[in-house]
Amino acid sequence: MASNGICDKVAIVGMGCTSFGEHWDRSSEDLLVDAANQAYESAGVDADAVDAYWLGTMGSLSGLTLSEPLKIQYKPVTHVENYCATGSEALRNAAYAVASGAYDCVMAIGVEKLKDSGFSGLVITPPPSDGTDAALTAPAQFSMLAPAYFEKYGLDAETGKEVLSRIAYKNHANGAKNPKAQFRKEVPLETIKCSPKVADPLGIMDCSGVSDGSAAAIVVRAEDAHKYTDTPVFIKALSFVAGPAEGPLSQEYDFTTFPEVVASAKDAYKQAGVSNPREQVSMAEVHDCFTPTELVLYEDLGFAERGGAWRDVLEGTFELDGALPVNPDGGLKSFGHPIGASGLRMMYEMWLQLRGEAGDRQIDSPKLGLTHNLGGAPGRCVSFVSLVGL
Ligand code: COA
Repeated sequence: MASNGICDKVAIVGMGCTSFGEHWDRSSEDLLVDAANQAYESAGVDADAVDAYWLGTMGSLSGLTLSEPLKIQYKPVTHVENYCATGSEALRNAAYAVASGAYDCVMAIGVEKLKDSGFSGLVITPPPSDGTDAALTAPAQFSMLAPAYFEKYGLDAETGKEVLSRIAYKNHANGAKNPKAQFRKEVPLETIKCSPKVADPLGIMDCSGVSDGSAAAIVVRAEDAHKYTDTPVFIKALSFVAGPAEGPLSQEYDFTTFPEVVASAKDAYKQAGVSNPREQVSMAEVHDCFTPTELVLYEDLGFAERGGAWRDVLEGTFELDGALPVNPDGGLKSFGHPIGASGLRMMYEMWLQLRGEAGDRQIDSPKLGLTHNLGGAPGRCVSFVSLVGL
């Protein structure tokens, strides 16, 4: 794959993130203004300094969705969408625009307000009537990873449930330390194991929640970064791939991997010169829409051997004080998943951690952070991987 990347050519110099949760009393516009103002303040700039904007959100028809609430004065605003990886797509396009030299200073921003739309993982959009797509909810589609993984690697149902529950337990424990998370309390392991079934073997506690939120980043050329902050975060790699969507039709696809994630991780590691992700990546925010997704991602991202991630989970490798902390902010499990905001929310945690500003969740001297954002479902998805560092 010919992907040259933009390693160390651009930097993030300011970020903002609203609290995620049920914002019944705030509109999408309110959330956008809040995240943007935090980002301006964090970079020490006002709106005049920002030359162009990329907005990630579902179903918007134009840049007016952002220019109106932010009162942007006659500047380019591009709306992007790429399923659940929409926020990361906004950042990727904004970063490339700066790397090209077209703009000096840009903003990537994402937002979604799901709660009052009635969105839930249990609402199915009607499938096409030609038999090419299944009428399955999101939890049902992702639930298929679990028995496939258990069968392939010889886990009995009890051990499998223990592994999935430990992932949820870890993410809720991390989220309990995060003032911006939707769910901010630890959940006992037994409660997780016994939570009401949504799509066997997944219970409610194996699912991310449904929430509202917004996050934003200000991006400039690397050589200008220290004019804005003493601690810029440099982009080492950005990779986005769309798969051929053959999984649901293929006898070969076995639901224990996302080939799109493998491809985007390989591309990102090449861009950043990473040869041993388990050793070189200090921490990661990954797309834990459901617990078996996170389990499979450990292997697809090269954090664990094939068939070995479940043992790493039981040994605590991905816990906050483990060898490779994953979802230190609590992940989608604790934040919910307001589509356009999630990718930038993941980057916000890397921004805090790399700068030593993550408070109770602070990881010891992280050097290289990874964010992973997935859109679609097993066998038919898009995947984004970024690497960022100091
Ligand atoms: N994890 C942890 N706690 C959750 C939760 C979740 N996923 N979902 C809801 N809760 C909690 C709520 O905070 C609430 O707690 P409280 O009584 O202490 O206030 C309680 O459970 C009931 O909340 P409610 O909103 O009525 O839950 P629900 O039954 O409407 O929603 C799900 C539960 C699983 C259906 C919903 O979380 C969901 O749809 N998740 C999946 C989202 C999804 O598929 N996204 C796409 C990803 S690709």
